[in-house]
Amino acid sequence: MLELERVESGYGETRVLHGLDFAVREGSVHALLGRNGAGKSTTLKTIIGLVRVQTGAVRFGGRTISGLAPHEVARLGLAYVPETRDIFGALSVRENLALAGRLAGDTPEWTIDRVIDFFPNLADRLDNGGHELSGGEQQMLAIGRALMTSPRILILDEPTEGLAPIIIQQIYAKLTELKESGLTVLLVEQNLNFALGLADEISLMGRGQIVWRGDAAALEADEEAHARWLGV
Ligand SMILES: Nc1ncnc2c1ncn2[C@@H]1O[C@H](COP(=O)(O)OP(=O)(O)O)[C@@H](O)[C@H]1O
Ligand SMILES: [Mg+2]
Repeated sequence: MLELERVESGYGETRVLHGLDFAVREGSVHALLGRNGAGKSTTLKTIIGLVRVQTGAVRFGGRTISGLAPHEVARLGLAYVPETRDIFGALSVRENLALAGRLAGDTPEWTIDRVIDFFPNLADRLDNGGHELSGGEQQMLAIGRALMTSPRILILDEPTEGLAPIIIQQIYAKLTELKESGLTVLLVEQNLNFALGLADEISLMGRGQIVWRGDAAALEADEEAHARWLGV
C-alpha cells in the first residue's frame, strides 16, 4: 500500500535516509524501530511531504506521492500524528476535531461523536482549550484528529512518549481496536513491548536504512539484531 523505493532525503546538505527501501502492507500494523537518530522520524516526515525526497520515490496505492505538499498527501488518506502531537492549544477540543474533519471526503467515516465514543476521556473536555489537556488527553486528541480525516493509513511517531503506564494501556487498547477494524498503521515507537504487541511486521532502522525485517517472534528470538540495532 505504501512503498518507499531507494529514498534519499535529509535536511539541507545533510542526508539522513540513504537509499531506504520500505513497504507497509494494507491492513497491517507495521512498527519501525531503531535507536535514537536512526532516521525514523525523518522517514515519517519524508512520507508525508514535510521533508523533500532527493532521489527515489514514495508511492501510496500505486501512485507516486513524493513531491506533493503535506496537505495534498493528507487528502489522499495519510494521517500523521507527530511526536510533538501538534494540537492547536488555543482552539477547543471540538474545534481541533472539526478542523481535521474538513480533510475528510464527502462521506466521513469518523464524526466528533464517534471520536468521543472512542475516547470517552475527551467527552468532558470538548470545550476545553487544547493547552488545558493532560499529555494523555493530548495524545488522544491527536489520534482523534487524525481519525477525523478518515485516513487509509495512520502514521504515529512515538505515541506513548512521556505518558503514564495507565494511559499507555488505554492507547494500546484503542490501537488494537483500530487494527482489528482493518486500519493500516505505521508506528514508530521506543516502547518495545508496546510495538511488539501491536505489530504484524517490524522493520529495524539503522543509519538511514532498513537493516532487519521480520515479525515480533522473529525479533524476540534474534538476540543479535536486538543488541545491534536496539540495545543501548
Ligand atoms: N530538523 C533537522 N535538521 C537537521 N538534522 C536533523 C533534523 N531532524 C533530525 N535531524 C538529524 O537526522 C538524523 C535522524 O533523526 P531522526 O529522524 O529524528 O531519528 P529518530 O527519529 O530515529 O530518532 C539525526 O542525526 C538528527 O540529528
Ligand atoms: Mg524520532
